[in-house]
Amino acid sequence: MEERETVIEVTDLVKKFGDRTVLNGVNLKISKGETFVIMGGSGCGKSTLLRHIIGNLKPTSGKVCLLGTDITGLEGAQLDEIRKKIGMSFQSSALFDSMTVGENVSLPLREHTVLEKNIIDIMVTMKLELVGLRGFEDLMPSEISGGMKKRVGLARAIAMDPQIIFYDEPTAGLDPIMAAVIDRLIVDLSRKLSITSVVVTHDMKSVMGIADRIAMLHEGKVLEVGTPEEIRNSANQTVRQFINGSFDGPISFFQQKDDYLEQLTG
Ligand SMILES: Nc1ncnc2c1ncn2[C@@H]1O[C@H](COP(=O)(O)OP(=O)(O)O)[C@@H](O)[C@H]1O
Ligand SMILES: [Mg+2]
Repeated sequence: MEERETVIEVTDLVKKFGDRTVLNGVNLKISKGETFVIMGGSGCGKSTLLRHIIGNLKPTSGKVCLLGTDITGLEGAQLDEIRKKIGMSFQSSALFDSMTVGENVSLPLREHTVLEKNIIDIMVTMKLELVGLRGFEDLMPSEISGGMKKRVGLARAIAMDPQIIFYDEPTAGLDPIMAAVIDRLIVDLSRKLSITSVVVTHDMKSVMGIADRIAMLHEGKVLEVGTPEEIRNSANQTVRQFINGSFDGPISFFQQKDDYLEQLTG
């Protein structure tokens, strides 16, 4: 790959919750325009890593640079300024039930810009067109399906023309067909808008379909980074076990079960 501008750089990131170390020295560089997938088992720290990259969490130690700015020590207005340049699409589509589809999509524009209503309306139409929902402006979230809600969430995430869009488990809870639609949309949006996409997922089918590069997160570290081809041919036993979905291997089912139960009980 040609040398491209680095838009995200994570250096020696460590995060401890109490005496539990969740991230244990993560290093990552993401280039402009690529679709970068962070994969790993449930509870391995993918969302935690993402929340550090967008400045929602502060590291115990280490550093995060986002779009050329060291955000590790940034708070408030300075952090918000950089956050305007990124879009986020989280696990739940998190739409406001009392607002129409159009109002949900226009919310960031109404909050962060002084654009006139007719201009905002045009922008909303464009964003909905991009996710295949043009003409759905006046419906309420309760009137559309789960997959459509995800797409509205996506339209909202790109409302401000972000340079980077982050997805946390975008296909979670969707049937395989809907999941494929969302995967396709992620790739489509990246190409059409030439934005950088960072996708966190444990869905292997998704990973291989959309990634330019993949990072495998395991036991608080990035185990390997490579193209889907390189990851598929990885010699690393843990990576192999993960992509083949096999029970036997270095990733212990029982550890995952413990993590899961811990998450449930807080
Ligand atoms: N705010 C928090 N306080 C304490 N523990 C947390 C917190 N957030 C996440 N964790 C723990 O960190 C681990 C990684 O969580 P998470 O990043 O959500 O994993 P993933 O997204 O890979 O499923 C889990 O064991 C979780 O319980
Ligand atoms: Mg998660």
